[in-house]
Amino acid sequence: MYRLLIRPILFLFDPEKVHYISFSTIKFLSKIGLSGLFKSMFLIEDKRLERELFGLKFKNPVGLAAGFDKNAVLYNELSDFGFGFVEIGTLTPKPQDGNPKKRLFRLKADHAIINRMGFNNHGVFEAAEKLKKEHRVLIGGNIGKNKVTPNNEAIKDYLICFDALFDHVDYFVVNVSSPNTPGLRELQDKEPLMALLNELQLENSKLSTRKKTIRKPILLKIAPDLTDSQLLDIIEIVDTTKIDGVIATNTTISRENLKSHALLIEEAGGLSGAPLKNRSTEVIRFLAEKSNKSFPIIGVGGIHSAEDAIEKLEAGADLIQLWTGFVYEGPGLVKKINKALLEKASN
Ligand SMILES: Cc1cc2nc3c(=O)[nH]c(=O)nc-3n(C[C@H](O)[C@H](O)[C@H](O)COP(=O)(O)O)c2cc1C
Repeated sequence: MYRLLIRPILFLFDPEKVHYISFSTIKFLSKIGLSGLFKSMFLIEDKRLERELFGLKFKNPVGLAAGFDKNAVLYNELSDFGFGFVEIGTLTPKPQDGNPKKRLFRLKADHAIINRMGFNNHGVFEAAEKLKKEHRVLIGGNIGKNKVTPNNEAIKDYLICFDALFDHVDYFVVNVSSPNTPGLRELQDKEPLMALLNELQLENSKLSTRKKTIRKPILLKIAPDLTDSQLLDIIEIVDTTKIDGVIATNTTISRENLKSHALLIEEAGGLSGAPLKNRSTEVIRFLAEKSNKSFPIIGVGGIHSAEDAIEKLEAGADLIQLWTGFVYEGPGLVKKINKALLEKASN
């Protein structure tokens, strides 16, 4: 029904407008009591889907990737579509508008999206307020830096976000891999990355001691465009800084093997969806094999079917996330994946 009826209508309109209209619609339908209907349609609860990772119990391994609910306004309602976890953000200390519109493009022929949103968000403090209400799902807090903050002061921004969200999220994601904030990806280099993660770990220990609580798992989100030697550096950095895992991957700047119109392909920004699938799986497999699977990996990039999800898990991912596939295939995709995982578990 989604692909035949709803998607063709949604795809007639501007993608960013559709995103916000969908948010208002979901919020409204949930408010008038349709939450239960969504749950009965999409949610599968089964012990065999549960996963325990970095001290957290995930109800199922399928999460919503960062960038969908940037401002933490819809995480509970989105969990009704069957997600085992929802990652909010990327959040920055100060609110910022992001890049000028248009900045989000559908590449329909490729089942893909190009975005150059540029961390548009209402700022971490507003999100922290929104997160004070009860959570029906595990929440990841994806954090970044403001565009105006130079890289040599970036640590400060990440620390502000870490402190503001510490009481309100279940795990953290350090985003240094978005292609849409100038210079951000330079923070993936060994030296600045070590410094950033060490500082965050220090803050983690300080806050957990002061608040007499457990430390929060910290994950690093990486780009699919890193070379093998940079990926080996990442493995070493995870080992040295003792962070809890890696999210692979963010969007790509590559434009290989696309069928869409040249004008669309040339739009600046990060490419997500089906064309990213193989590279993201390759990165997951490389990290898992070269590290002897020494840390958890969340696999994301181009998952549009249950088979794509299983491929990521078999390559070494412990959990997976969706973004573009959720838009192209609809909310039924989460259930399809969980059903396929259950079938696999009973074989
Ligand atoms: C419009 C859009 C906005 C995004 N914003 C963020 C973001 O703020 N932070 C982040 O870490 N990833 C962001 N992402 C990347 C996704 O979380 C995901 O890593 C990527 O899209 C690959 O997964 P997919 O192929 O399932 O979309 C964004 C993706 C899209 C399409």
